[in-house]
Amino acid sequence: MSQTDTRQPPIDASQPGWMVELMLDPEFARDPRPAFERLRDGPPKRDELELPGGTPTIVVSRATDVDQVLRNPKVFSSQFGSGMGGLGNDRPMIPLQIDPPDHKKYRVLLDPYFAPRQMAKLEQDVTVLVNQLIDRFIERGACDFTSEFAIPLPSTVFLRLLGLPLEDLDFLLHIKEGIVRADGETEVHKMAKARATAGQECYEYFESALDRLGREPGDGLLRDLLEAEVDGIRLTRDEIMDVCYLFILAGLDTVTDSLCCFWVHLADNPARRQRIVADPGVVPAAVEELLRWESPVSAVARIAAEDADLQGCPVHKGESVLLFVGAANTDPATVEGADQVDFDRSVNRHSAFGGGIHRCLGSHLARLELRVAMREWHRRIPDYRIAEGAELIWTPMLRTVLQLPLVFGGP
Ligand code: HEM
Repeated sequence: MSQTDTRQPPIDASQPGWMVELMLDPEFARDPRPAFERLRDGPPKRDELELPGGTPTIVVSRATDVDQVLRNPKVFSSQFGSGMGGLGNDRPMIPLQIDPPDHKKYRVLLDPYFAPRQMAKLEQDVTVLVNQLIDRFIERGACDFTSEFAIPLPSTVFLRLLGLPLEDLDFLLHIKEGIVRADGETEVHKMAKARATAGQECYEYFESALDRLGREPGDGLLRDLLEAEVDGIRLTRDEIMDVCYLFILAGLDTVTDSLCCFWVHLADNPARRQRIVADPGVVPAAVEELLRWESPVSAVARIAAEDADLQGCPVHKGESVLLFVGAANTDPATVEGADQVDFDRSVNRHSAFGGGIHRCLGSHLARLELRVAMREWHRRIPDYRIAEGAELIWTPMLRTVLQLPLVFGGP
């Protein structure tokens, strides 16, 4: 399908609140690409609506503009400050909401734990886990992909990595849903309240988890963080909690979102599915292409540290800037055949993991999980479709489907 949809009117950025309206549009959550095309038409666009405690928002969508902002952390800061990230946190999340120069010290400390060589060591365990999950439903010939595969896979891997008990998973997922999706609330004040409540639960959980780790033997990343040093200085307890707060959001949500986006796509596109079944060697390229195409994390946020101009769009100090990496990934100005899903691309430099200094810490872990899941699933379940009559409920920005009933076997 071409991205050009002549039925779509241009975005009317003169109407305050147009961006909020777009976010609440279920069609935007399901397939944001037509809206992305309209957003790329012209320079970045302002939404003058000021949400409570917020500012006007500048929406950036063209690949070169997104790149310009991502690579200029001095002007476009990630330092939202206390509570301003809108995700219920009391302090900035580390390293996501930290600017240079401090940002670097945290990445120097964290990067080695998530390096490709470290992640490759997990491949065997992830393969076993994927197969155990499939064992639970394959005989049934059907499953809810979201709750039976896409949620437990990355969550289990991540809890093991952190050294947290698997029995805590349901509680951590409850916290994560409260922070990321505000427990499904759509009214601004109720959303803020749901997030603040979940945020406090998150801090309390990690307070006692760190206490426990201090008393009991064991291993895992969290324990390593208690002892890790940068330039001879240990992380404070608050700093460790601020890393954990981000880890719960990043580690428990994004891979789930990606799996759901990918499997809806593959269920709807039998030829692409069959290609993976016939040639598992295509899996790494298929993962990259679906990351580009689906961009499960559609946008990232910044705040202007000084006045700026983005291709003629004024940006005032203190204003919010929203970067649609999903729009950049499908921008025909920089991506050849941007509106085609093509597993045979020789070059695929997408921004699904962001760019610049805040580029995703967990990208190698995410890739490993997505590749193993795609390879093993299609080896054992080559044919599947979305259950007849199922109505998929998509969520925007961190794009996922809340339930994905799949039926195995041909039509
Ligand atoms: C397919 C899955 C994933 C996607 C699409 C994704 C996407 C992103 C994006 C777009 C950013 C940039 C944010 C910004 O510039 O403001 C980011 C940053 C980050 N991601 Fe991921 N992510 C994924 C998986 C993970 C996982 C599994 C982890 C677990 C550790 C993780 C940890 C982080 C961290 C810590 C940052 C902040 C890096 C920094 O500020 O230096 N991500 N991710």
